[in-house]
Amino acid sequence: MKKRPCNSVSRRGAVPFIAAAAVVASGAASAFQIDTGNPDVRMTWDNTVKYSAGWRVRGVNSEVADNSIGPQANTNDGDLNFDRGLISNRLDLLSELDVRFKRNMGFRLSGAAWYDQVYNESNDNPGALGGALVNQRSAPYNEFTRATKQLHGRKAEFLDAFVYGNLAPSGMNLNLKAGRFTQLYGESLFFGSNGIAGAQTPLDLARALSVPNSQFKEVARPVGQISGQLQINADVTLGAYYQMEWRKSRLPAAGSYFSFADFVDAGVYPKSGRRLRFRIPTGHEMHLYAEKTQVGNTLGEVNPGTLPDEGVIRGMRIYGLDHVFIVGPNMADAARLFAEVFEFDLAEELVDQLGGNQILTFFSCSSRAHDIAFGVHPEAGRFHHVSFRLNSTEDHVYAGDLMGKYGIPIEQNDRHGITAVKTIYFFDPSGNRNEIFVGGHTRYPDSPKLTWTMDHLGLAAFSQSLHVPESFLGVTT
Ligand SMILES: [Fe+2]
Repeated sequence: MKKRPCNSVSRRGAVPFIAAAAVVASGAASAFQIDTGNPDVRMTWDNTVKYSAGWRVRGVNSEVADNSIGPQANTNDGDLNFDRGLISNRLDLLSELDVRFKRNMGFRLSGAAWYDQVYNESNDNPGALGGALVNQRSAPYNEFTRATKQLHGRKAEFLDAFVYGNLAPSGMNLNLKAGRFTQLYGESLFFGSNGIAGAQTPLDLARALSVPNSQFKEVARPVGQISGQLQINADVTLGAYYQMEWRKSRLPAAGSYFSFADFVDAGVYPKSGRRLRFRIPTGHEMHLYAEKTQVGNTLGEVNPGTLPDEGVIRGMRIYGLDHVFIVGPNMADAARLFAEVFEFDLAEELVDQLGGNQILTFFSCSSRAHDIAFGVHPEAGRFHHVSFRLNSTEDHVYAGDLMGKYGIPIEQNDRHGITAVKTIYFFDPSGNRNEIFVGGHTRYPDSPKLTWTMDHLGLAAFSQSLHVPESFLGVTT
């Protein structure tokens, strides 16, 4: 069943907006002055309506936008989402209200609104492996994400909102401004991001790239600030400003025609910075990010002590996430990706025979025995288990007691040969397999790779019982 777009209600609301914009276009093609009845107050309201359309004249070139797990996997959505034909069918309104009193003080309000039919419909992404990496979580493969629809498809926003005044202390000219506005010192006609101008004003690059004939006052993004300029004489002007607000430059949204990257912007996932999202050969979605908000454990960083506040350590006394174990086809390709691109160490492996094929691979990028493990499975994107670390064998016994008390189904309580840890596997209410884990090898950069062979599977998997439950080999979610 086709998923209903999250914002289909506001899509219906867009129709009257178009009609309204058309009325403005026919009634106010240029500025007009509003008669205030007071000769000292001059008011102008300027509305500019613009229609623009863009066509793609040639189809997707697979050498430019390749649809596989390749070097372009994180940069191809903007290309793959559009077949030959319309890439934009857009109506823009720019509205500017200026009110001036006696030529030396006043205020300005401006705003923009737009609707692009192309971004309010499905797109042409083929949805094959690698085709719609960024969309597959929040929207179907052939739909734009909600953020992309909002930025490119339908939006209204205020631009300028400021007051100003001109004074003449000691015969000099002093101009003061406060509110949200843009300013660019120096010559910045073509390259506004150069020099000090780049720090003064963020830019709306999504508009600059998408809408032909945009004026710079539409591209520069106003920020909250106060500013003063004192003209001492004809040759010398002193200027100063203080910005209370920071806004980022606006890039074309992921999957829009002119987008550069398929990333997930900061804030989409809680307490997480910008992410690169991609799919690995086993069919699993991976995210790469550099920023994460540290929540902490209430101990602080100065004289932290040893015991967090009451209630912080609860339940099974889990200390942290240890590793995940995922299974799918093409494990060898995934293993190569993690070894050669991400530079994980292959810490341990299970092979059918010495010098033979890998069946399980265990990779580490830390001092842990492994951080991620892969197994072979005919179906893509399967999950075997996630493992949580405990601090001590006492906590491990306590966690096992809790499972008994609350009737949590235990699959195996044993010790792994691989990694040499004490383990309990159990299923959570959603049916996923979990593991609690204590002990294990400490991994150093020069630790040798350990190899296990299938004729010792019992020892490798569960080294006390030497027995591998059928469910452990068969159940994935
Ligand atoms: Fe595990």
